[in-house]
Amino acid sequence: MATPSLSWFCFVILLCSAAVEALEGGFSVELIHRDSPKSPFYDPFETPFQRVGKAVRRSIARVRGLRLNDEGEPSANITRIDGDYLINVTIGTPPVSIVAIADTASDLIWTQCLPCDDCFPQEAPLFNPRASSTYAEVDCNSDECHVVDRTNCSTRVFIHTSGIVGLSPGDASLVSQIGGNERTHFAYCLVPFFSTSKYTSKLTFGSDALLAGQGIVTTPLIIKSETLYYHVTLEGTSINGKKFEVSGSTEPDAEPGNMIIDSGTTLTWLPSNLYRQIEPAVSAAIDLPRAKDPISGYNLCYRSSGVLKGAPSITMHFTGADVALNWYNAFFELDENITCFSFVPTDGLPVYGNMAQTDFMISYDLTLDTLSFKPHDCAN
Ligand SMILES: *[C@@H]1O[C@H](CO)[C@@H](O)[C@H](O)[C@H]1NC(C)=O
Ligand SMILES: *[C@@H]1O[C@H](CO)[C@@H](O)[C@H](O)[C@H]1NC(C)=O
Ligand SMILES: *[C@@H]1O[C@H](CO)[C@@H](O)[C@H](O)[C@H]1NC(C)=O
Ligand SMILES: *[C@@H]1O[C@H](CO)[C@@H](O)[C@H](O)[C@H]1NC(C)=O
Repeated sequence: MATPSLSWFCFVILLCSAAVEALEGGFSVELIHRDSPKSPFYDPFETPFQRVGKAVRRSIARVRGLRLNDEGEPSANITRIDGDYLINVTIGTPPVSIVAIADTASDLIWTQCLPCDDCFPQEAPLFNPRASSTYAEVDCNSDECHVVDRTNCSTRVFIHTSGIVGLSPGDASLVSQIGGNERTHFAYCLVPFFSTSKYTSKLTFGSDALLAGQGIVTTPLIIKSETLYYHVTLEGTSINGKKFEVSGSTEPDAEPGNMIIDSGTTLTWLPSNLYRQIEPAVSAAIDLPRAKDPISGYNLCYRSSGVLKGAPSITMHFTGADVALNWYNAFFELDENITCFSFVPTDGLPVYGNMAQTDFMISYDLTLDTLSFKPHDCAN
């Protein structure tokens, strides 16, 4: 039976998915940072620091939402979803553009549709299913419907995008639908947050998403049916060559799949025991006056602008993959002349955020369940 509260969302189930995958090499779409001039949400009156402050607040709110619900059941709660990167996709026949959040931690593809008495405001016109010749209502007892029926849409959204394109391992996500019965691959390269030369990068699906050449490191991806996120195993972090380990193999923190990688979270949230070990090493390396964090009050911040003098070299040790970061993967100017460490502690689910991912090609191989990193200048 139809749930009335679902009525103002259209969940997108792709047709002809095999034909899409059959395209030679796959296909790419442009990834747009939501605060860049190419984004429909760009506010030219905001300063770069207002934008970064908002991204940090979004990141804090999002990490609170990236949890299991009380029953430990997966829950695709639409309210929690707010991300940093957008894609412009078309749906229906004739095609209608929607600008949607590309979200590796969501398994749904949805947009608001007509008729709608109770939609949240969006700038783009609402999708009109009656005007699409390929629109069809799906029987609630069908397999297609079951992939979305555990979604709770009764809570209201006040984000302003016209939808979400889920890239998680869940059955309803774009990645799963493109693959059909076959598992597939996808990859992206995120331009640094403060890039002023280029605002978009590519999200690629199919065999073009597999990396080639030198400098590639690969770690197992762990997909847990109870979360449907992309989990990786963080073993430790090195600061200027000294390795700190996620403590004790008996602790839940050190279990396989102890961290998720997420395109929609700005900061990197480390298990608090690891964070407590590395913070003194980071602060010992940087000989600059400390500053108070203007937002959360607990970050490591310095009076500095531009390249951070004395920034330590940081390597993330995932199982089988040592990822050596650029200084700007771990530090960012949060306010004028105040540069902060973008790694923060959590007692919840640790997240490898998007600032740490910039200037790497990051490839998800869902045939082998591996994640590969390759340093890359994403603006080129
Ligand atoms: C879903 O949203 C509700 C209402 O905001 C919130 O209380 C709940 O914790 C959220 N659940 C998850 C799993 O994020
Ligand atoms: C999305 O794509 C359509 C069609 O190519 C274009 O008209 C529109 O301007 C694009 N929107 C954004 C925000 O890039
Ligand atoms: C859906 O969310 C609403 C509002 O947060 C809550 O009252 C309700 O219990 C949720 N339903 C399920 C099935 O989780
Ligand atoms: C930031 O530093 C520059 C250069 O030292 C200085 O001119 C400017 O006044 C500083 N701004 C603030 C808000 O401290």
